[in-house]
Amino acid sequence: MASIYGPSTDVAEFHEVLKSSKRIMALCGAGLSAASGLGTFRGAGGMWRNHKATSLATPEAFERDPGLVWLFYSYRRHKALQAKPNPGHYALTELSKKMLEDFITLTQNVDGLSQRANHPREQLKLLHGSLFDIKCFACDRIEQNNYDDPFHPLLAIDSTEDDRLAAAENTAQARAAYEDPNVDTRTINPDDLPHCPKCKKGLLRPGVVWFGEALPEDTIAEVGAWIEKDKIDLILVIGTTATVWPAAGYVEEARNKGAKVAVINMDGLEGELGAASDLTDDDFLFQGDAAKILPEILKPIIGGLEKRES
Ligand code: OAD
Repeated sequence: MASIYGPSTDVAEFHEVLKSSKRIMALCGAGLSAASGLGTFRGAGGMWRNHKATSLATPEAFERDPGLVWLFYSYRRHKALQAKPNPGHYALTELSKKMLEDFITLTQNVDGLSQRANHPREQLKLLHGSLFDIKCFACDRIEQNNYDDPFHPLLAIDSTEDDRLAAAENTAQARAAYEDPNVDTRTINPDDLPHCPKCKKGLLRPGVVWFGEALPEDTIAEVGAWIEKDKIDLILVIGTTATVWPAAGYVEEARNKGAKVAVINMDGLEGELGAASDLTDDDFLFQGDAAKILPEILKPIIGGLEKRES
């Protein structure tokens, strides 16, 4: 039953809405991959070697200390390659296979797990790029699907040590040193880092979108065209704080096309739900692990998920 006090948490009621939905969109964030063992950005695990993960995801950080930023991404590539897609990824894959072009997944995740869960590629829009694309910092060269681990011998990761550091408390001293332009904390000489084979000048960099950079133009155009095509019945907002723009803006865009909002998040209304925080009694909130909730709430369309190895 819909509550006058806020979003419904009733799975049976959601199933009815799901079954009558003709066009559905999903907006995913790091929480979708949490059950696969990958850290989120803003919760526990949002630190790497005393640095805030978000403070390393900028072109300025790369310009200042490309070795440090590369080590961070080398660690993330390594962890993502070790991780396996979870039932949440597979549930979205099944929904996509069942609904075809009437379902689109927009993901902010760069970990490649949706792709490895065989999510149909046409219906999967990578808003923030991929850890496994390698771009040039200077020219337009881009290489896709590079799974070398390490990407370069200098970027080999001692993951036990990095896991320990990731779990260690942030020390104000270390952060202050990094943030002080007068302190040289560089880790690897930039001349020794891999350079672009095309222009020979630029450093290679991970093909992810950093803060201050534009989202991939083609992807944005494809998403825009899908949204414009017709009414949208439902948007699933999965494991994201929905605070990073323009990605978070898709919640409002879907609402403007008529969509009800269903939030699937470890946090409830007392937490940070960003662009999805103004839920009404027409909307839904399922609090808990996306890997458990998605297979359950999508069951009327996807049926039961078989056990998978991958
Ligand atoms: P955040 O770290 O901001 O948010 C993760 C969300 O997942 C939080 O709302 C958690 O409550 C929720 N969560 C954690 N574990 C979960 C689980 N098992 N099941 C469901 N929800 C869970 O990550 P994003 O919102 O993805 O951008 O961050 C958005 C963007 O900010 C990222 O793509 C990245 C980052 O900086 C760039 O690097 C440009």
